[in-house]
Amino acid sequence: MGEGGHVPVMLAEVLGALAPADGEIMLDGTFGAGGYAQAFLEAADCTIFGIDRDPQAVARGKTLAERFGGRLKMLEGRFSEMRTLLAGAGISGVDGIALDLGVSSLQLDSAVRGFSFRHDGPLDMRMGGDGPSAAELVDQADEPTLADVIHRYGEERHSRRIAGAIVTARQRAPIRRTAELADIVAAAVPKRGPRSSRGPRGRSTIHPATRTFQALRIWVNDEIAELRRGLAAAEALLRPQGRLAVVSFHSLEDREVKRFLGQRSGRNAGQHRHAPASDSRPPEPSFELIRRRVGRPDTDEVAANPRSRSARLRAARRTMAPAWEQGEVSP
Ligand SMILES: C[S@@+](CC[C@H](N)C(=O)[O-])C[C@H]1O[C@@H](n2cnc3c(N)ncnc32)[C@H](O)[C@@H]1O
Repeated sequence: MGEGGHVPVMLAEVLGALAPADGEIMLDGTFGAGGYAQAFLEAADCTIFGIDRDPQAVARGKTLAERFGGRLKMLEGRFSEMRTLLAGAGISGVDGIALDLGVSSLQLDSAVRGFSFRHDGPLDMRMGGDGPSAAELVDQADEPTLADVIHRYGEERHSRRIAGAIVTARQRAPIRRTAELADIVAAAVPKRGPRSSRGPRGRSTIHPATRTFQALRIWVNDEIAELRRGLAAAEALLRPQGRLAVVSFHSLEDREVKRFLGQRSGRNAGQHRHAPASDSRPPEPSFELIRRRVGRPDTDEVAANPRSRSARLRAARRTMAPAWEQGEVSP
C-alpha cells in the first residue's frame, strides 16, 4: 500500500521490466504517491527523478526524499516536458522511465479535486492547477463538441443524448458539482447498461456516468496529446539500453502506446506517415520490445486492488539508433 491508500499497480512487473541497477538514473514520470519510486530506491542504489504535474504529489515526494538521503529528487511539471525538467537538473540521459498513466487513488478519492461521481465536489478534474476546469469546459463548449469528446474519450455510445442533457441543464443553471453532473448523465442514459457492463443479473455494474467522467478528465488534462509527446520525449531521453515501462488504464491510452512501440521497434513500421517521401525505408528501430505481449494484472492483484483490473503494461528497451524525427504516431 502506497502513501494515503494508493496501491501501486503491477509493481513487480514494472520493477522487473525497468530493472534499476546501482548507479543508474531512473525517472518516474507519474510520481503520484511514490509507490514505484520507493520500490526503485529500495531495489538498487540508484537516483530517481520524480515528476508530477500535481503540486500535492510533489510535496508528498519531498517528504519521501528526506528518507532516501538525496537519491530522490522531485520536479513539478508534465512528463511531456521531461527533457527540459531534467536539463534544469543537469541531466541529459536516463536509464529507465516509468509512466503510470491517469489519476492516483489520492486524487480520485479527494472530493475537492472533482474527479469522482462517487464523492460530491466541485467539478474541477485538473491534475495540476493550470488550464480550464471541467466546470468551465462543460459550461462553454457547444453541444457537438461535448458529444464528440464524450464519444471519443469516453467511448460512450449515448454521447449525443448526454451532451443534449448537459446543454439543457446548464440553461437553467451552470453545472458546478460532480454529483449534479452524475445525476444529469444518469437521467439521460437508458436504465440498463450495454451487455458488456451488466452483472450476472443483467444489472449494470458500472455507474452510468463512468465514461462521461473519464472523457472529461482526459479532455481537461489533454491526456492523449500529453501521452504522445511524453513517449517521444522518453525516446529522446533514454540512453542506449535504457528501459521504458508504461502502464495504461483504458484502450485509448493503450492503443497509443502499442502503436508507438510497434512503430519504433519496427513491428508496424509501415504506419509511420512522417517518413521522408523520397526514402520509403523507415528509420532504424529505436526500441526493442522487452515483452512481446501486453502485460495484465493477475487475478490475485485484481481481487486485492479492483482499480488494477483494466491496467495494461508495455515495456521496451532503447537501442543505439537515434530517436526518430519528432513525428508523432499516426492518429
Ligand atoms: C496512477 S498515478 C501514479 C501512481 C504511482 N505510480 C504510485 O505508485 O504511487 C498517476 C500520477 O501521474 C500524474 N500525472 C498524470 N499525467 C501526468 C502528466 N502528463 N505529467 C505529469 N504527471 C502526470 C497524476 O497527477 C498522478 O499523480
